[in-house]
Amino acid sequence: MSDKPWGGRFDAPTNAFVEAFNASTHVDARMYAEDIAGSRAHARMLTQQNILNAQDLNLILSGLDEIEVEIEAGNFEFSIALEDVHMNIEKRLTDKIGDAGKRLHTARSRNDQVATDTRLYLRKRTDAMVARMCGLQSVLLSLAETHADTIMPGFTHLQTAQPVTFGHHLLAYVEMFERDAARFDDARKRMNQCPLGAAALAGTTFDIDRHFTAQALGFDAPTANSLDSVSDRDFIMELLAAASICSVHLSRFSEELIVWMSAQFSFVELPDAFCTGSSIMPQKKNPDMPELVRGKSGRIIGGLVSILVTMKSLPLAYNKDMQEDKEAIFDAYDNLEGCLRVFTDMLPDMTVHKEAMHQAASSGFSTATDLADALVRAGVPFRDAHEIVGKSVAYCIRESIELHQMPSDACDDIDARLSVDMVQALSVEACVAARNHLGGTAPEQVRLQCAAWRQRLEEKNA
Ligand code: ARG
Repeated sequence: MSDKPWGGRFDAPTNAFVEAFNASTHVDARMYAEDIAGSRAHARMLTQQNILNAQDLNLILSGLDEIEVEIEAGNFEFSIALEDVHMNIEKRLTDKIGDAGKRLHTARSRNDQVATDTRLYLRKRTDAMVARMCGLQSVLLSLAETHADTIMPGFTHLQTAQPVTFGHHLLAYVEMFERDAARFDDARKRMNQCPLGAAALAGTTFDIDRHFTAQALGFDAPTANSLDSVSDRDFIMELLAAASICSVHLSRFSEELIVWMSAQFSFVELPDAFCTGSSIMPQKKNPDMPELVRGKSGRIIGGLVSILVTMKSLPLAYNKDMQEDKEAIFDAYDNLEGCLRVFTDMLPDMTVHKEAMHQAASSGFSTATDLADALVRAGVPFRDAHEIVGKSVAYCIRESIELHQMPSDACDDIDARLSVDMVQALSVEACVAARNHLGGTAPEQVRLQCAAWRQRLEEKNA
């Protein structure tokens, strides 16, 4: 009655819509290489344990090789009637080699199989993601080296706060992407255990060697509890959390680029190859890439929420709900990798308008804190100094001048302790140069940090 590998106890065929609705091939076919690798390791283990004979093993291995070639050449048709990548490959193998193919599923279930395939696939993708992050860090680092002395306004509340160096600002993102990469690496370590052998949920009656398969597939160890092995999706949650945080960093950076590229800021201009125009307004050059990257964070965070909610109330062990796990993380990975790639390719060709940055840094009373510090050095208590500078700023606003342009009689009028030398000494260059300590914005510190990062990234790439 049924052509399904599990059809024995069924009398009626699957409803046609259910067949399509139930299928996951459109999502999991991309794990074919991992599924085949898992089957090879499993078959070898069964043979070593005398559960499978050498002749069957050879048929299985050569059959799997052929199937891998067929899939890679685009000559393999995934059938939704066979539900998922696992049963598609197994069925094809059985069509090719007969009974030996039917023996492959001994001591195995799709439950431990899918858990294994997903870990293997995400391990590979995670390594690629971390490499991409490292590539973006290198690009940011090169820019930071070029702009160790470039002065821009630093903001709090998006209001001019104090001058900073552009190199310092860029290195803030290098720090963020380092933590992001570390989060992925950390999740990868926890994920790298082999569920194979847990079978459906309780283990198997066969005398299997779980260390063999774990080692053959490059896992650090087999998982220790069969129920946990097939029901754990923590690794997907962790990786999606890491992806979400990274996407938030990219989104914040995007927002800055978008603001900086506006006519009102004009700090940077993104290359034509990464912008688009308007179909009606001929003057427009829109920062589509940072906008899109900012937008991508929405769906990536959506993926995290989706896996958390999917898993929230699931009893042990495997439940079909869990088939929904892969779409969220594959989508998040594809999109995050795209974001990292776009930024890595776009930033080296960004034009930096240093004069506009300098001019913006020099206005808005960005040196006010330094004037207060100068008063404190002359013995004025900080709260008094704050008050004196506040009055000076109010005076300058009324007169439409900057602090360093205050005449000496105005200084005297505001407070006897305020001298014209103090205001004349104010410059954005002096402001940044003075913040010359670990973590400070001084060009000298930026160069030190750049040198340290250069070495770290070279060590990582080595
Ligand atoms: N396609 C399934 C998934 O992605 C594979 C595991 C199915 N197991 C089962 N007992 N129905 O989760």
